[in-house]
Amino acid sequence: MKATDLLTQQHQTVSRLFKAIESAKSGEDKQKLFRELASNLTAHDGIERETFYPACKEVMGLNDDLGEALVEHGVIEFALYQANEAVGEDDFDFKCKVLQELVEHHVKEEEEEFFPKVEKAIEASTLESLGEEMEEDFEDKLEEDFQEPLYENLRQVLAGLLETEPKARKSA
Ligand SMILES: [Fe+2]
Repeated sequence: MKATDLLTQQHQTVSRLFKAIESAKSGEDKQKLFRELASNLTAHDGIERETFYPACKEVMGLNDDLGEALVEHGVIEFALYQANEAVGEDDFDFKCKVLQELVEHHVKEEEEEFFPKVEKAIEASTLESLGEEMEEDFEDKLEEDFQEPLYENLRQVLAGLLETEPKARKSA
């Protein structure tokens, strides 16, 4: 399957899980569905960041679409972390809602703006082999506990951010 089709298919799974969480009958069901969602999102994030985005960058350079996607991934991870920390608590529902809105925005931009450009820039056969590699990787990642890669990514994002000083302070 082409990498872009694989990612689109995974977006649909994620959107189905968000809807299922919303209509879950019991707290237990909701938690189980959320864990499934979190595993899917983390594995999806992993194959995009490790394989798909670097392949796009090689061909298209770090353009605005790609830059935006990368920043959004960091924000989504932070929202996922917050929802995960709130599982079973009163603040879970609104934290999960924020996560859903961020993911929906990101998915829309990828599917409507970014993927069509990628499909023009990268040959179909390359997208096909990329997709195969990503699909295998995704299955492996789904088996892992999502919390490890999620918290490790966040640590890296935060460490990178904390190295820099606020702009105002630097120029003062
Ligand atoms: Fe993405």
